[in-house]
Amino acid sequence: MKSVTTVAGVREWRRAQTGAIGLVPTMGALHEGHLSLVRRARQENGCVAVSIFVNPRQFGPGEDFVRYPRDIDRDRGLLSQSGCDLLFMPLVEEMYPAGCETVVDVGSVAAPLDGERRPGHFRGVATVVLKLFGIVEPTRAYFGQKDAQQLAVIRRMAADLNLATEIVTGATVREADGLAMSSRNAYLIAGERAAAAVLYRALIAARDRFATGEREADELRRVLRQVLASEPLAHVDYVSVADPDSMQELTTVTAAALFSLAVRIGSTHLIDSIVVGA
Ligand code: PAJ
Repeated sequence: MKSVTTVAGVREWRRAQTGAIGLVPTMGALHEGHLSLVRRARQENGCVAVSIFVNPRQFGPGEDFVRYPRDIDRDRGLLSQSGCDLLFMPLVEEMYPAGCETVVDVGSVAAPLDGERRPGHFRGVATVVLKLFGIVEPTRAYFGQKDAQQLAVIRRMAADLNLATEIVTGATVREADGLAMSSRNAYLIAGERAAAAVLYRALIAARDRFATGEREADELRRVLRQVLASEPLAHVDYVSVADPDSMQELTTVTAAALFSLAVRIGSTHLIDSIVVGA
């Protein structure tokens, strides 16, 4: 595995590749969710590039940019065992040199839910992902279903801007109790870690109601809220039953629906989601 920190270094590596290139963009503190994407990219492409970049432009003031977990030595070991060929880990100045002002605004799909809760977040995500596509020129890029609105934003960007990169989705990887793996889970202290399993329990309860015929979105939202209310440490930011492509809230579920939650436990913000009826 080759490691580079500069755009020029990626381009030099890129020129020597002949087959398909898979890219897995990450912010590091890698876990099985990330590694499942790397292994998938390994299977589907001639070579695999992974970026680790804690992107300051997708964190709001007062968010966890400074304390976001960073463990580059561990990440490097995990990546070299998972079939990564190129690790790109630029400094902030390399990605955003003085005068870098262009941003990508994806529109209405980025407006509700996490877009509303975290103003500017998806502009930061879309901008850095488009830059990574420009630097690596990947054949395919891999994103987790876990961050469902991020996925919808990137798909919308790729379609609207006629990007040549194919967007591939990986299933959410979970802990034994259902908690979706996340670098932010490291913030949870013991009692909070146990409480965090309530997110998946809520999603499963709503999925069960859907499976037994419930199609009214308000009733499904009520089920989500009811299960979350059973956990005293869980503070709800939102519950949503929305169209998975447009992210607009549904009245009645007639086709695929995305059930999603944002919940704060202690000082940790967690999100999770599942798609039903796809
Ligand atoms: P990060 O949170 O590091 O996640 C990198 C990729 O791993 C994303 O596509 C995310 O959806 C996926 N992922 C995270 N947890 C997962 C899980 N439990 N199962 C499956 N996939 C999972 O998302 C970002 O970084 C950034 O916003 C980024 C896209 C890199 C832009 O900065």
